[in-house]
Amino acid sequence: MSKTFKRTTVTSALPYANGPVHIGHLAGVYVPADIYVRYLRLKGRDVIFVCGSDEHGVPVTIRARKEGITVQEVVDRYHNLIKKSFSDFGISFDIYSRTTSATHHKLASDFFRKLYDDGKLVEQVSEQFYDEQTGRFLTDRNIRGECPRCHAPEAYGDQCEKCGATLSPEELINPYNAETGNPLVKKATKHWYLPLDKDQEWLEKWILQEHREWRSNVYGQCKSWLDGGLRPRAVTRDLDWGIPVPVEGADGKVLYVWFDAPIGYISNTKELCEARPELGSWETWWKDPETRLVHFIGKDNIVFHCIVFPAMLKAHGGYILPDNVPSNEFLNLEGNKISTSKNYAVWLNEYLEDMPGRQDELRYVLTANAPETKDNDFTWADYQARCNNELVAVYGNFVNRALQLTQKYYDGKVPACGVLNDYDRETLDEFRDVKGKLENLLENFRFRDAQKEAMNLARIGNKYIADCEPWKVVKTDPERVKTIINISLQLTANLAIAFEPFLPFSSERLRTMLAMDSFSWEDLGSTCLMPEGKLLPKPGLLFTKVEDEAIEAQVKKLEDTLKANAEAEYRAEPVKPVIPFEDFEKLDIRVGLVKACEKIKKSKKLLKFTLDDGSGKDRTILSGIAQWYEPERLVGKRVLFIANLAPRQMMGETSCGMILSAVNYNGDLSVTTTLDDVKGGSQVG
Ligand code: 2FM
Ligand code: ZN
Repeated sequence: MSKTFKRTTVTSALPYANGPVHIGHLAGVYVPADIYVRYLRLKGRDVIFVCGSDEHGVPVTIRARKEGITVQEVVDRYHNLIKKSFSDFGISFDIYSRTTSATHHKLASDFFRKLYDDGKLVEQVSEQFYDEQTGRFLTDRNIRGECPRCHAPEAYGDQCEKCGATLSPEELINPYNAETGNPLVKKATKHWYLPLDKDQEWLEKWILQEHREWRSNVYGQCKSWLDGGLRPRAVTRDLDWGIPVPVEGADGKVLYVWFDAPIGYISNTKELCEARPELGSWETWWKDPETRLVHFIGKDNIVFHCIVFPAMLKAHGGYILPDNVPSNEFLNLEGNKISTSKNYAVWLNEYLEDMPGRQDELRYVLTANAPETKDNDFTWADYQARCNNELVAVYGNFVNRALQLTQKYYDGKVPACGVLNDYDRETLDEFRDVKGKLENLLENFRFRDAQKEAMNLARIGNKYIADCEPWKVVKTDPERVKTIINISLQLTANLAIAFEPFLPFSSERLRTMLAMDSFSWEDLGSTCLMPEGKLLPKPGLLFTKVEDEAIEAQVKKLEDTLKANAEAEYRAEPVKPVIPFEDFEKLDIRVGLVKACEKIKKSKKLLKFTLDDGSGKDRTILSGIAQWYEPERLVGKRVLFIANLAPRQMMGETSCGMILSAVNYNGDLSVTTTLDDVKGGSQVG
């Protein structure tokens, strides 16, 4: 049963302040949340939009050590950068604060203390990995060692990236500190746990029975956690960065970052309400059952927002629980995983440097391709196609035609609307329907489909002008043209409203071009938005084409990063066991002059070489390097080959020997040759 609420508290995941934000963040969390909030505001609903930087946890401390600066310097740098990027992209938070704020430290600390005082936490001593040289306990991800399955030397404490095995640090052979390389020992340490096993029952009822309407990815993940049986979770850590555990004898221990971060939503609301008294008490936004709480997050955050945080809120008492947790899946980039640590991403700050003023283009493409139900891929080719074929050719084109015709025929003054014909009425009816459709989609967090509906309006408009052909009709029936243009302008004004949640910058530009004072969602579908006689300023273009060069530069940037990463990750194969000189002497390596080289039919891999090997007779060798060389390029070259390898039959040919090639870091082969002119048949040794 859907309940009616008086107000809505919208939160979006607090990003870690250990790097800039990228398009994956924007697509997964911040653009959808912003669309939703802008829509609610346009509807005149009471809503607050809360976010901030997540400044605790291990990653920021690692970054600081790597860069030789303090943790505070790291979080200051990224907090400011992230905050600016969000504001540049029109993410309209009411507050963007940070978890290092005094308000947050106090609130999170008090929250823990209340759970502690009420006996809601369990104290337990366990053995954990410890680096005696640095005096630090380590998290799973910071422990490395030999994989017990495939024996790769650098498996992580939670996973081996070589064979994919899920591991626990205890299983690693010779575990060591990933950062320092120091060996680790086990040491006893005390921590406080949230006994989630005790929450199993009510969480099952609350999520699985009472929130069947949650997105299937969210519901499914919760179900699988619940089906697996919840276990107690430690909410403290041995670390010197974070909020100190407010209990005696807990020196060197801080609140686990996932304990304090979601409380950040509450602290930031408190800070917001203190700065804006008209919003009332922060408690109204978190404790009144008539407030609706909605968390926008990425899929790796589902368990924390749907299970752990609600359990914390319930244990504390007095708080409302989230009504919905719209979580997206992940966005990939040109077929690869986006990675902050590998610098493989489109960073928002860099995007704006390369594509100034194109915020809405990115917002549009990310929503059109939003990973709402499954992981999706962002490609620059798709970006260009959507910008040019949809924003420019459909939306921009319609607006431009309507405004240019107004200038051309009526000196920029809105003409009067005459008598409507059937086609006019049909067009306007389609427009009226859109409001209801959009509302339904937006209320159900289906932003991708909602944006498609808005774009449909522009398509209707374009078709209307194309079908009505005012430039022809003007010669025969000038009165009719007034009606066509009037209707087109009403449609244009509707578009400005419909697109505001999605493309706020363009809507603002369009609002100025239409000389409108303000918008209201309730005006959507109205045909009286542009009064007769209103004077419009000279219009500019709403969108401009994205050129090939800009796209090529972006693709190249990503390719360069992939290449640099592959080079950095490359490690030469270990040297094979030592052999006696006599074994080496068994190999007869020679220089061969390539007399001919050709492709082998039916084989994508093989090239057939005809060599002058000094014997006076031609020698045939097949080599699997077709992927890297056009055969003509090799003719006349001197190559190194093994002359006494037993002949082999391949693709109906006999190959007598082996051409030597080097394997590059990325698997590419490169044929070996001599620096100086050497006769075919010369020995190598
Ligand atoms: O995954 C992340 O980026 C976390 N920093 C999200 C925290 S969300 C909330 F709990 F604060
Ligand atoms: Zn392994």
